[in-house]
Amino acid sequence: MRLDKLLSNMGYGSRKEVRQLLKSGSIRVNGKTVKDAALHVDPYGEEVFVLGERVLYKEFIYLMMHKPQGVISATEDVRDRTVVDLLDAEHRHFNPFPVGRLDKDTEGFLLLTNDGKLAHNLLSPKKEVPKTYYAHISGVVTEEDVAKFASGVTLEDGYLTKPGKLQILKSAEQSEIELTITEGKFHQVKRMFEAVGKRVVYLKRLSMGPLQLDESLPIGAYRELSEGEMNSLLAIGNKEES
Ligand code: URA
Repeated sequence: MRLDKLLSNMGYGSRKEVRQLLKSGSIRVNGKTVKDAALHVDPYGEEVFVLGERVLYKEFIYLMMHKPQGVISATEDVRDRTVVDLLDAEHRHFNPFPVGRLDKDTEGFLLLTNDGKLAHNLLSPKKEVPKTYYAHISGVVTEEDVAKFASGVTLEDGYLTKPGKLQILKSAEQSEIELTITEGKFHQVKRMFEAVGKRVVYLKRLSMGPLQLDESLPIGAYRELSEGEMNSLLAIGNKEES
């Protein structure tokens, strides 16, 4: 890869800005000061330093965000703030996008990446990646609802959902539940409860596949996935579709 491309990809500025850095003698490759922007380097094998700092090249980024309410799961929007607006420039320059959507008023676990293949795999209906939600429900959630969800419920447009695993945490005028589903239709959790005559008044995603929301992340904050989280995620992403 060309040296100026590598440095630009890693956030050291535009190609023009990187050329300035090169000119000023700030870049060393394998211990030697380099001024040639077109020099080809192996981004994983050769040692590149900018102003004495080692550049650890990576192509992909994987971020876990504790999505707050009030922002939308998109990369840009003319009206609303997006989850990408919450990222630092250091992470934004990788052009990550949210993997799937949470509604504007839903909070909790959201994965952002620029790894299109992984995102595609995680969202593929064939993979049936489980997603678990915690919710407050207006109305008394009963064992009857648990049974209905277990065999799938018919949404208002006639679609019969796949089975959902509903767990009642509190059955009251305002109930508390956890629900695990393996698909991701538009407003699915809200529509599943509407199908049994109830209304979701608060919704938070707790997990997606093997990844659990890190509850130590304040609402609106994010972090890169740990190596263990990455490995569990890539295992799902790479599994052959059957
Ligand atoms: N189901 C919903 O209704 N909303 C979400 O944000 C996610 C799942």
